[in-house]
Amino acid sequence: MGSRAVVLTRKAGVSPNARERLGEDSVLLVEPPGHTPVLVRAVGELLAVRRGEVVVDATVGLGGHARLFAEALGPDGTLIGLDMDPANLELARRNLADVQPRVELIHANFAELPEALASIGVDSIDVLLADLGVSSTQLDEAQRGFSFQREGPLDMRMDPRRTVKAADLVNRLSEKELGDLLYYNAQEFAGRRIARRICEVRREGRITTTTRLADVVAGAVGVDPSSRKSKIHPATRTFLALRMAVNEETANLQALLEAAPSLMKPDGRVGVISFHSVEDKAVKTDFRRRKNEEIYRIATKKPVVADEDERRTNPRSRSAKLRVAVRLASD
Ligand SMILES: C[S@@+](CC[C@H](N)C(=O)[O-])C[C@H]1O[C@@H](n2cnc3c(N)ncnc32)[C@H](O)[C@@H]1O
Repeated sequence: MGSRAVVLTRKAGVSPNARERLGEDSVLLVEPPGHTPVLVRAVGELLAVRRGEVVVDATVGLGGHARLFAEALGPDGTLIGLDMDPANLELARRNLADVQPRVELIHANFAELPEALASIGVDSIDVLLADLGVSSTQLDEAQRGFSFQREGPLDMRMDPRRTVKAADLVNRLSEKELGDLLYYNAQEFAGRRIARRICEVRREGRITTTTRLADVVAGAVGVDPSSRKSKIHPATRTFLALRMAVNEETANLQALLEAAPSLMKPDGRVGVISFHSVEDKAVKTDFRRRKNEEIYRIATKKPVVADEDERRTNPRSRSAKLRVAVRLASD
């Protein structure tokens, strides 16, 4: 793949000087205020978007990676962005208002990508990216209930049309169901203990807030979150497991991986950025299976991770892993 320079800037538009310095092939990525997309260099190099192609950003978020793609696509390209969070889709709309390609932003779950593409008359694509998980805007807003660091209702829905909230799971699932959910979604080895404690506490009244749940979990595992010894907050995995269940993240990813090969043109590139081992394993397993079936060539023998510099400046990048596969031509 080409080794194009990728430059992050906070200013809109491509400065002619930057182009001269970096070469015509360079890609200038305009960073939306307060948001730094992860692994931009590797995404730029491995997905290698060319002028006039059709690109799907399945998790357009704030439009960070999408701007990178827009620069490379030019006026003849098509950029399609999906997000199941309408608030983020609106931010993407603003951040992509001045780009050259045709832009289609769709409020949809990427599990329904084939239907979303059909709704705009697109049946095949050159590039697909999914940058999984939540965005900083979702984490930062207490009312969304994603963060144990901010007091808010136990909600965690990315799509407000969904009916089940985290509070429903915490207060209604049986002890066994809760323990399984914590273990299988987030590999929380203290899952049984946490589930038992949640069930004891909720007998005295519903657990309705993020901070209350975080305290219950910390009590169950006997770790003081403010202690210097605990590397991560003891409720980190519990919150991850609940978020995954509320948004059906494992099933969504499976559906996307399943649909991708039939949507990709020959030589099409598919990239997934995951943030925990359950997701990464699903991507690795899918890519390997399709390599054996001669549907994909794997472009990343090992997942690409952030370098020291990025890890220091963008904490979200620390657990990010990018895997890329290339669609082989079918006979
Ligand atoms: C990490 S952010 C993406 C950030 C984006 N790459 C950027 O640079 O601005 C993940 C986004 O994916 C969305 N999302 C997560 N799962 C989704 C799904 N199944 N379908 C559509 N959007 C999803 C979230 O709402 C969130 O906006």
